Amino acid sequence: MKNKLEKIREEFLKQLSLAKDREYLREIELKYLSRKGELSQFLRGLKDLSLDLRKETGELANQVKDELQEKFQEARRVLDGYSNKKEIIDVTLPGEDQQGGHLNPITIVQMELEDLFSSLGFMIADGPELESDYYNFTALNMPPHHPARDMQDTFYIDKKNKKGEYDLLMRTHTSPVQVRLMEKYGAPLRAIVPGRCFRNEATDARHEHTFYQLEGIMVGENINFAHLKGFLELVGKKLFGSKTQLRMRPKFFPFVEPGNNGEYTCFLCEGKGCRVCKNTGWLEIVGAGLIHPNVLKEAGIDPEKYSGLAFGFGLNRLAMLKYNINDVRLFNSGDLRFLEQF
Ligand code: FA5
Repeated sequence: MKNKLEKIREEFLKQLSLAKDREYLREIELKYLSRKGELSQFLRGLKDLSLDLRKETGELANQVKDELQEKFQEARRVLDGYSNKKEIIDVTLPGEDQQGGHLNPITIVQMELEDLFSSLGFMIADGPELESDYYNFTALNMPPHHPARDMQDTFYIDKKNKKGEYDLLMRTHTSPVQVRLMEKYGAPLRAIVPGRCFRNEATDARHEHTFYQLEGIMVGENINFAHLKGFLELVGKKLFGSKTQLRMRPKFFPFVEPGNNGEYTCFLCEGKGCRVCKNTGWLEIVGAGLIHPNVLKEAGIDPEKYSGLAFGFGLNRLAMLKYNINDVRLFNSGDLRFLEQF
């Protein structure tokens, strides 16, 4: 009897291993596991055996029945998986492409400049975006009611101080950190300050209410215009290539004297004139100058002994030039079609 049971088991497993479709599986089920199938017939045949033998063979037959039913269900699951393309995992298939994140183009430009200035011994500093009127304007040689404040239309915070004045605002530039750093570290000092700024702008393709600047400051003995020119030339070459030239034209900023606008030869036409530079051959990129003695004094540094230079790049502007982006508002749009290009 036991041999017969083993034979049924072996045949069943052999046929199951050949099953490639549901019809074949159904045939195996009918042949072996149904009420009229071979296993059931075998179990029915046990009634003619002696009590002991019946008990022993019966137990064995039930174990085999459980095993075969389990194997059958497993084979059915596998076949169902193939037909539904759901459950089966084919480990030989190539993996799914995992989409990596993207650095924002402003971050890329910021990191390039951080690398450059770190290698020149500048520290990378930070300052508050919610700033006081004092640091944003007064300490930078723009006392209350100074007309130069009008150059930067400001978001004031609707909260008065004890004197009844509105003295908190969203910083309009990174220059207030100049004063904070000089107060904290004194001279000599070398630092850059990348950060977010805010202005009450009627936005257009070149103006945003929220944008990024990168401030640079160097204070020490005998710091002069040649140092400033040297740094600005380095930045131009780093960002736009070794042939890039710099020209400096006078511009008024209350916190530097003399002040200037740094312009680079257009990276696209190399100075010949094109659509990007509006046919001038030059691109206006950075505000800069030697730190005004009033600002040094306000920050507790003796202007008779020390001098300093400062510059401020618009990072959005740099990224726009580097990657040929034609609208500054794209940076804050959160549009993945834009961001995924970098
Ligand atoms: C300043 O903000 C000065 N603090 C720069 C400076 C620093 C001068 C140190 C001297 C010494 P200005 O307002 O020009 O300067 O802004 C500097 C740059 O910030 C601009 O050239 C421009 O690239 C960027 N910027 C200014 N306003 C906006 C805006 N609304 N949207 C996008 N970028 C802007």
